[in-house]
Amino acid sequence: MLNFKKEISNAIAQTTNIEETEIYSYIEVPKETKNGDYAFPCFKLAGKLHKSPMDIANEIKQNISLDENIIEKVEVVSGYLNFFVNKKCLARIVIDELKNTSEYGKSNIGKGKNIVIDYSAPNIAKPFHIGHLRSTVIGGALYKIYKYLGYNTIGINHLGDYGTQFGKMIEGYTLWKDEYDLQKDPINQMMDIYVRINNLCKEDEAVLERCRNNFKKLEDGDKYCTEVWEKLKALSLKEFERVYKLLDCQFDSWNGEAFYSDKMEEVINILSRTGKMHESQGAQIIDLEDKGINTPIIIKKSNDSTTYATRDLAAIMYRARTYDFDKALYVTSYEQSLHFKQVFETAKLLGLDEKYTNGLEHVSFGMVLLPTGKMSTREGTVVKLEDLLNEAMDRASKIIEEKNPGLENKAEIAKRVGIGAVIFNDLYNNRIKDEVFDWDTILNFQGETGPYIQYTFVRTNSIIEKAGVDIKNIKVSEEYLQDEDSQNILKLIYSFEDVLKEVTDKNEPSILSRYLISVAKAYSTFYNNNKVIVDDAEIKNTRLFLTHATGKILETGAKLLGIQMPDKM
Ligand code: ARG
Repeated sequence: MLNFKKEISNAIAQTTNIEETEIYSYIEVPKETKNGDYAFPCFKLAGKLHKSPMDIANEIKQNISLDENIIEKVEVVSGYLNFFVNKKCLARIVIDELKNTSEYGKSNIGKGKNIVIDYSAPNIAKPFHIGHLRSTVIGGALYKIYKYLGYNTIGINHLGDYGTQFGKMIEGYTLWKDEYDLQKDPINQMMDIYVRINNLCKEDEAVLERCRNNFKKLEDGDKYCTEVWEKLKALSLKEFERVYKLLDCQFDSWNGEAFYSDKMEEVINILSRTGKMHESQGAQIIDLEDKGINTPIIIKKSNDSTTYATRDLAAIMYRARTYDFDKALYVTSYEQSLHFKQVFETAKLLGLDEKYTNGLEHVSFGMVLLPTGKMSTREGTVVKLEDLLNEAMDRASKIIEEKNPGLENKAEIAKRVGIGAVIFNDLYNNRIKDEVFDWDTILNFQGETGPYIQYTFVRTNSIIEKAGVDIKNIKVSEEYLQDEDSQNILKLIYSFEDVLKEVTDKNEPSILSRYLISVAKAYSTFYNNNKVIVDDAEIKNTRLFLTHATGKILETGAKLLGIQMPDKM
């Protein structure tokens, strides 16, 4: 697809003798349309050219040679050069691209680059609660978007399947397995066993000792303990799978923390050879104060057991060797910021190539705030993710029943609308912000919501359906796409790939969510101001094509966020 920015930066490079790539990196998209479609801030070159921005702007304007059929106007406004693209040209390239590609915006800019995304990672034998929603949804969207841009993307579910609590679970299971029907309602039953064995441990020191011993045996590969652990893990995964299916989430690896049990020794050996690891109150720690981190990292606890951090260090070594990653993203709440700071700093001591330690990134996010306040496991207000998703579908189903009772396939539509609403809400704000969870806002068809995007998509489809045209074979004319409303839509569609790139630059899916809202709004404005079905066949077909294009972008973008479109709603 013709790249306007490139056309402009090429032309500027020729008149200034400055590298085209440098020029390219300075080009901006002005906030106000009166300042053109692209702008070049000339002060960026003031140092190199030893001239004032105003002089540079005027000189470039005088000497620049641009094809009028591509860039139709250049203006100088206080040290800026503002470029206006040729409206017909914009329309033509967008139309051609949409007609010639089945997957609009797909690219291979990421070819040859490996991106590891560590996301979701719930804990085995515990409920998959709403706190894991954000990691699952943000990680899932990034996974899809990186893939769409051609990166070799590896999704890892670093399950919490390790720790002393499994010694307890094994003990509880052994004592009471016949009293529970674990197949039927595994997580709740396991939670019950866990609470019960914990109480027993408090009363009876001998039981606690047996639990500790179980964990030790599990680490040493004891057959019985491993079997029980695997069984509990499989039961949990069966429940988690249902959630992943609803959220359309994929993983390439399910290696959880336990996978690293035999890989920590190497880490500990390397770290002790650095001379930086030392004993403190019986534990093995590394001070990171000189790196600006005031809390030391604990590599081994005083009872000799390893830590969450040690396992993450082992995972970094393993992932570097196995996936040769260019970036390794960790999608967790900001509550783990200190943990990842410590781990990333300590990883530099492992003797890995800098490529790997530079590629580590914590993609952090804020809390989910329910209308009643912050949720927490300890306060006993755990909301199970599956219950939440079921409620979303129920509520969507009630709304559909009210609005459109005659609809076919209502259950599937309610599923898409309900789940889509939850996902969109999660991705709507900058990820670091806390997320407010309020059903009425989330499901409002008129708000900046998932259902609004879906509703607009469905509307575009029904307009085309009613018109009864074969959209692939109609004649579209750029003549009739030069008005402001059409141009606004075209510009947005044109920028789709850049939007996706920006998402991966910042690991921020909300850039795409907000973009989709702009597309839907731009279409609403167009639709309110223009009749689509008019007598002139060419105008009608052109407007129908614009309608189709809008739907296509909304569908593609939503899918990349993990949201499915309903056919009708
Ligand atoms: N299981 C952890 C939790 O629930 C998240 C794991 C994140 N990934 C990692 N490599 N530490 O908080």
